[in-house]
Amino acid sequence: MDRIDHGSGLAPVPRLPGDARREHDGAAPHPDASQRMLTNRIRNRQKHLARWARRTGITCYRLYERDIPDWPLIVDWYDGEAVAWAYRRKKDGTEEAHAAYLRAAREAIAAGLETTADAVILKERRPQKHVEGAQYERMAALNRTRVVMEYGLRFEVNLHDYLDTGLFLDHRETRRMVRERSAGRRLLNLFAYTGSFTVYARAGGAAATTTVDLSATYCRWAARNAGLNGFEPDPDHAIIQEDCLRFIEDATRARRTWDLIVCDPPTFSTSKRMTADSFAVERDHADLLRGCISLLAGGGELFFSTNARGFALADDAVPAPCTMRDITRQTTPEDFQGRPRPPHRCWSIRRPAGTTGEGHASAPGDVVDR
Ligand SMILES: C[S@@+](CC[C@H](N)C(=O)[O-])C[C@H]1O[C@@H](n2cnc3c(N)ncnc32)[C@H](O)[C@@H]1O
Repeated sequence: MDRIDHGSGLAPVPRLPGDARREHDGAAPHPDASQRMLTNRIRNRQKHLARWARRTGITCYRLYERDIPDWPLIVDWYDGEAVAWAYRRKKDGTEEAHAAYLRAAREAIAAGLETTADAVILKERRPQKHVEGAQYERMAALNRTRVVMEYGLRFEVNLHDYLDTGLFLDHRETRRMVRERSAGRRLLNLFAYTGSFTVYARAGGAAATTTVDLSATYCRWAARNAGLNGFEPDPDHAIIQEDCLRFIEDATRARRTWDLIVCDPPTFSTSKRMTADSFAVERDHADLLRGCISLLAGGGELFFSTNARGFALADDAVPAPCTMRDITRQTTPEDFQGRPRPPHRCWSIRRPAGTTGEGHASAPGDVVDR
């Protein structure tokens, strides 16, 4: 997916019965021209990207994103399997028509990848209300996990059980940037999910890391990802299950600082574990950013990212003397390029060396390249 916007949900598509025509006459179905277009598109992308992926040492990437209007799908490749997220089409007025579209999509993708339909894990995008925890809930319990590679690092993914797989592919380059900047530095990874930024920071020689997420499931997953890369539990590399907003408040009071901060919050979240009733990035990002900035050491850098559609950064979100640069172009990976809109927006916010978080809250920031 376009990193699933957490305002919408997905539902797993159950195993589909055999193609109606096949059931009817026992013969293999004849793909129509439109289905062949999808197959060809997937085949060509796979041919091109597989070469690129081998060269760059990655085993999972975005194959297809609503490239053909009649096939509103997102398809990601995970080293031998594909995850396809299907959007509903208006023209499929009945459940039968919709089911036929899903079946045809799965067949076309499998044909393009020269694999079986079983290797295409289809999830269906459905409208979802903002209810507690819904965006992170488990959809199945197959517990079938596997390990994928990215730039020499290993990550556990679960292609079946959740809305997301455990690794957001659109932040591959952001993770690489974090690794490049981590030597000897302290990283704070907020809304850390499965801790992939932390793994990169430790691989880059971070002196210490603090990984914070509200979910116990994801904190345990982050620990497993660290272990997969040879990083043992270590008091200098804490994984903390907590509300990030509360963590920021407590850390600010304790006058703690970090050299690198990653803050990639969900579009919306709500949970009984949170101090506030809910978090909405559009509404709350300015407070969140000011909080992060108060934890940024002199000479430090904060990566702030969102994939909320139509997101507009508040003018007063970055107080002086910090500076801000939109780095979305640099953080958009090759397999996500050439689309009408980037998969996320990302900013680098820097605090000049020799300054601290105190006393800067009211001055407007020096905004570069917005
Ligand atoms: C968009 S994902 C973050 C993706 C992550 N930065 C990455 O690139 O892998 C959102 C994460 O925020 C967590 N989360 C949501 N609300 C939270 C809160 N108030 N405090 C801490 N974590 C929260 C969720 O459990 C989820 O893991």
